[in-house]
Amino acid sequence: MAQTWTPNSWRQKPIQQVPDYPDLAVLDSVEARLAKYPPLVFAGEARRLKSALANVAEGRGFLLQGGDCAESFAEHGADTIRDFFRAFLQMAVVLTFGAQQPVVKVGRIAGQFAKPRSSGVEKQGDMTLPSYRGDIINGIEFTEEARVPNPERQVMAYRQSAATLNLLRAFAMGGYANLENVHQWMLGFVKDSPQAERYRKLADRISETMDFMKAIGITAENHPSLRETDFFTSHEALLLGYEQALTRVDSTSGDWYATSGHMIWIGDRTRQPDHAHIEYCRGIKNPLGLKCGPSLTADGLLELIDILNPANEAGRLTLICRFGHDKVAEHLPRLIRAVEREGKKVVWSCDPMHGNTITLNNYKTRPFERILSEVESFFQIHRAEGSHPGGIHIEMTGNDVTECTGGARALSGDDLADRYHTHCDPRLNADQALELAFLLAERMKGGRDEKKMVVNG
Ligand code: TRP
Ligand code: MN
Repeated sequence: MAQTWTPNSWRQKPIQQVPDYPDLAVLDSVEARLAKYPPLVFAGEARRLKSALANVAEGRGFLLQGGDCAESFAEHGADTIRDFFRAFLQMAVVLTFGAQQPVVKVGRIAGQFAKPRSSGVEKQGDMTLPSYRGDIINGIEFTEEARVPNPERQVMAYRQSAATLNLLRAFAMGGYANLENVHQWMLGFVKDSPQAERYRKLADRISETMDFMKAIGITAENHPSLRETDFFTSHEALLLGYEQALTRVDSTSGDWYATSGHMIWIGDRTRQPDHAHIEYCRGIKNPLGLKCGPSLTADGLLELIDILNPANEAGRLTLICRFGHDKVAEHLPRLIRAVEREGKKVVWSCDPMHGNTITLNNYKTRPFERILSEVESFFQIHRAEGSHPGGIHIEMTGNDVTECTGGARALSGDDLADRYHTHCDPRLNADQALELAFLLAERMKGGRDEKKMVVNG
């Protein structure tokens, strides 16, 4: 029988990835302060996202989730947010056209500050210091001072999240997301791409569709849905003291919601069923993500599904699979079969980033071909199993960084040093992200044509 859940019941459980705060009284006082601050999102929005994801779970939509591996205080600024949003919306248009289904847009943004680490310490030369755990906890500089966890950083992260969300809301509703604009940006990308020929066909079909809509009088002036978009935020719910402080009762339903973001996810390192992170997440009503890596067994997954989604509500749970391009064929089918056999309603999403990290010239990087290859296998496997490949989860930025190799501009290991800016894992740059969307859209269309051929004999 499940124990009673409260926003702090996780504190009774074993826990991984906890920062070593030197002064717990200061931590308490920061958490108490945060608990009085306004929520960043409200319950009605989280419910709206859940119902959009329910459509995805039922095969009638596609989830696009992406953003920084880790947001940073240093790179907080309007241009970074705008450039991210611009790249993200272009991906969304291309994928909407490719899938011929609504795309649910969820950023890894406005709260993605805490990072799980495989080691508690980092060694450089003969100096050993505590690992960097994300700007919400400590500083990235390799000095003793910077690496001490500082609770005040939680207030900074909260304020940065609020400011970021404010701008994103303005962009999403205030005209910047106008489909006509996004389409023009996308055409600019295609024109400049070394792979222009390849992408032009799809781009032209989108242009024709837009012209057709205009011809019959459907414009952004008379159809708000063409100039507005629903954009949601998400992050890993790693720092539970911060999450608890922003956990609030929704006055209309009486239910508890995390108000730090619309959707939160549980990392592959913190998903032990009897531990704190699962305990916290089971009690809030937001849509949840669960990262699924190679060590997750089918029974382990079913156990977690029962804890996190006992009512089997569609849209509640998104399984974010991150196996690696060479391991996805080994692990994904067994999980799909178990979930299908038990009739569990989930969104299947593919994170092709985290299982494909390698080291090259002393840089952590990810080859674009491997990223694409994992997504392709993900789609093929779902087609073979008869399940819905419901989404992708990527680390990306709107800036022209050199962190992942490959892509149309064929970034090499030697290019990595040019603009390697990430605070954590290597991200797709704007061009690579959009390219991934084009390549996926092509395949989605291919998949539909195949299905039609089967139907029509
Ligand atoms: N409102 C629709 C949607 O969000 C159409 C739309 C408007 C759109 N602006 C967009 C789609 C930008 C993708 C990107 O799907
Ligand atoms: Mn990452």
